[in-house]
Amino acid sequence: MSIDHLVPVTTGTSTETVMADFVSRHVGPAGDDVRHMLEVVGQPSLDAMCDRAIPGAIRSESPLRVEAAASESAVIEELRGFASRNTVLTSLIGLGYYGTVTPPVVRRNVLENPAWYTAYTPYQPEISQGRLEALLNFQTVITDLTGLDVAGSSLLDESTAAAEAMSLMRRASKAPADAVVLVDERLFPQTIAVMRTRAEALGLPLAVADLRAVSDADSLSAAAGGKAVVGAMVQYPDATGELVDWAPLTAAVHDAKGLVTACADLLALTLAAAPGEWGADIAVGSAQRFGVPMGFGGPHAGYMAVHRGLERQIPGRLVGVSVDAEGHQAYRLALQTREQHIRREKATSNICTAQVLLAVMASMYAVWHGPAGLVAIAQRVAGLTTALRRALVDGGLEVETTSFFDTVTVVVPGRADEVTARFAENGINVWRVDADRFSVSLDETSTPATAQAVLDVLGVKGSDGALPGAGGTGAHGIPQALVRTTDFLTHPVFHAHHSETAMLRYLRRLSDRDFALDRGMIPLGSCTMKLNATTEMEAVTWPEFANLHPFAPAEQTVGIRALIDDLSAWLCEITGYDAVSLQPNAGSQGEFAGLLAIHAYHQARGEGHRRVCLIPASAHGTNAASAVMAGLKVVVVKTAAGGTVDMDDLRAKVEAHRDDLAAIMVTYPSTHGVYEDTITELCELVHEAGGQVYVDGANLNALVGLAQPGRFGADVSHLNLHKTFCIPHGGGGPGVGPVAVRAHLAPHLPNHPLAAEAGPESGVGPVSAAPYGSASILPISWAYVRLMGGEGLRHATQMAVLGANYIAARLREHYPVLYSGHDGLVAHECILDVRQITAETGVTVDDIAKRLVDYGFHAPTMSFPVAGTLMVEPTESENLYELDRFCDAMIAIRGEIEAIRAGEVAVGDSMLRHAPHTALNIAGEWDHPYDRTAAAFPVGVHAADKYWPPVSRIDGAYGDRNLVCSCPPPEAFEG
Ligand SMILES: Cc1ncc(COP(=O)(O)O)c(C=O)c1O
Repeated sequence: MSIDHLVPVTTGTSTETVMADFVSRHVGPAGDDVRHMLEVVGQPSLDAMCDRAIPGAIRSESPLRVEAAASESAVIEELRGFASRNTVLTSLIGLGYYGTVTPPVVRRNVLENPAWYTAYTPYQPEISQGRLEALLNFQTVITDLTGLDVAGSSLLDESTAAAEAMSLMRRASKAPADAVVLVDERLFPQTIAVMRTRAEALGLPLAVADLRAVSDADSLSAAAGGKAVVGAMVQYPDATGELVDWAPLTAAVHDAKGLVTACADLLALTLAAAPGEWGADIAVGSAQRFGVPMGFGGPHAGYMAVHRGLERQIPGRLVGVSVDAEGHQAYRLALQTREQHIRREKATSNICTAQVLLAVMASMYAVWHGPAGLVAIAQRVAGLTTALRRALVDGGLEVETTSFFDTVTVVVPGRADEVTARFAENGINVWRVDADRFSVSLDETSTPATAQAVLDVLGVKGSDGALPGAGGTGAHGIPQALVRTTDFLTHPVFHAHHSETAMLRYLRRLSDRDFALDRGMIPLGSCTMKLNATTEMEAVTWPEFANLHPFAPAEQTVGIRALIDDLSAWLCEITGYDAVSLQPNAGSQGEFAGLLAIHAYHQARGEGHRRVCLIPASAHGTNAASAVMAGLKVVVVKTAAGGTVDMDDLRAKVEAHRDDLAAIMVTYPSTHGVYEDTITELCELVHEAGGQVYVDGANLNALVGLAQPGRFGADVSHLNLHKTFCIPHGGGGPGVGPVAVRAHLAPHLPNHPLAAEAGPESGVGPVSAAPYGSASILPISWAYVRLMGGEGLRHATQMAVLGANYIAARLREHYPVLYSGHDGLVAHECILDVRQITAETGVTVDDIAKRLVDYGFHAPTMSFPVAGTLMVEPTESENLYELDRFCDAMIAIRGEIEAIRAGEVAVGDSMLRHAPHTALNIAGEWDHPYDRTAAAFPVGVHAADKYWPPVSRIDGAYGDRNLVCSCPPPEAFEG
């Protein structure tokens, strides 16, 4: 390992290492500031502090073997090296991934703009109105195009959205337990595979069959093998390109009291009848081709829309309209927000982090083009496909597809391999369906020259003028019965921003409403909102990564896969595990994959009956939800008085379930913000009873370089690259949730039917649509690790722990720190207990959180894992100035609380209760007993730097009672 760039300073202690170049850019405090912080914490050095805080039994003995790059420019050069080893051909593969043009104004001002990509999930709606509006636009795009009533604000990808729809149909159905979900055999193959993985875990029977001829009770029953039917899943248009009229099937399924889900292509829906119009109950799909690059598989926004009556079953986040304290319209997350925390094992799904940034991009693509622009794009694609099909047929080829939008399947008996290879030699990827057929999908980027190139490869002489000009012919292959006749995107927002000036200003207007990391600290416990450095982000939009199709031949994707190999090896080195899969595209999906691996391991040993999963009460709600999805039974372990896992209760539960214990799922350090001493004993207890240990790695920022879960007793962890490894949170996604395992679980990692190299042959099947999940953002984490090196990563962890302890030390006398370990030390976050304050003064965590907005801060995590508390995680990236600004604000707020306690002001009249204060509040009529300046410019807030929240406190319950989940008319905002 080279640590040449780490320059120790001469002042003496090992804590005083000055990190050169990037490390010192990534870590906020340095030099005297670190010394000062240590003094406040009462520790002589960083090493001494970590020795006291972290149990010796779990400490790593050797430094991480990760070499740091020389500089940021050296890292860019290395990334260029990876990029140059990829070969980007014209992709006509289709199957859910299409060429698209990201409008430059959207790329520069959303994808590459920290105001959008560094925001957090909009749980604090008053500081999230911009992205909430963008997401409401997304929901409106989805409901309008699918012809359904309610859409969520993104799912993880098309295939997992289909799997969620499958579960939804089962939940909504009264059919007997052995009833089947019918799946048309022409669904995208990756979607069928992801559904199989999910269905098998749930014991839900799937019947994959040709559903095109199903039109009555008899044919339905035959397709279902005589079983009752939960529902049916169809693709529209299907994998071969055929646009099937599914109305007869839908009628038959409805007669049998089942539901129908359409996996539908959004661009096709601008020309083809909406699924809601022909009777589908649910529509799912991907918004990728709305301006989001293919990126070797992701990230992209999956979507789901349902008809009214099913809205409470929608997984993931749903944005709705409500009102603020002044009665003005305002947006906030509706209904099932944070439902895993509340409903845990009864949650509708485990989805937490979704794909917000990509949903915002897709929505802005629709805003930019408007309905007419989208139709024009679709007509061009459809017209070109029609002309190509005609030329192929005229050239003597057999084209299987008759009704179509953008894809045709061509029959070349016994020659598909040869033909596909010939295409590749000529710079084009087509899809080899089987030995006798290949398919071609055109897209927004296709031109007459693209179609001509296809004909040339096949040796077909297109008659002159057969291919349309760039404007298209207006002809298309959609049968009359399926031509769309209804309007969509009629809301003014889709008509108002078509010049670049207007669009630029709209994007700026929305992002100005929000508070993201580019404005200040986001001290959210359990979220690790650290620096997302510009250099780390650079490669994401490079065409060599952005324009790769996930099913492109392996020889064309050598560079990105080499990068993935590097990152996988580093993650193993950091965690102490033996193997890792980068396929899961959020932490929740990593949890699911890890639990599947555990179950498959038990099964392989003839112990498939082991299905009990112990989960401490303090665990994140996704843990319980994932366990249920993996077919396990959740048994809760109590918390002891000091916040640790109650070991007596654990012993009792292990004993009670000795014969059927599958696993324990613990977070380490725990969500209580302490390094528990009992972790090794806990692992031993569970292993001794035949169970496996799952350590939720969301808190890995407290371990990197100091302790390795794979070495201290755990068998499997998921990591959150969007926390510890610098993938920005994007306003609620994208994320990457790799699952890392010890060797005995490695044969049970995810794999993929369309990419043998992406996982073990004996794997549990895919958990994401793409072989490597959200591959195009992996260069971010790669760059982070490479820039930091082993020593830098370890330093970052120590500084994250120091930052949390500094805050705990400064705030302890004002707000009790709920849990701590030796010497009163916490891990990388701390819980401030507000319950006594609430009991004595009526001031709630909400009041403090909203008042922090007036002080120019995002609130800490509220009421997780303990109701009535605030969990603070500063991360290593915040410098002393910002840490002090936060502490000063919290102390000043404590002073405001004291005035309430002293009876100087009633809580209902206080600044705390009326926070946050908008500019309109301050300028308007004033009948509060406190003064305007104190309200809007409290201590530490400079007039020139003031962040003005756009709305005052939002009434969430009102919005849930009056559910509106698409764009309200502009008049709603008057007054
Ligand atoms: C402790 C813990 N586990 C699991 C998760 C789920 O991760 P994701 O949101 O990426 O699905 C989180 C997310 O906040 C978490 O804090």
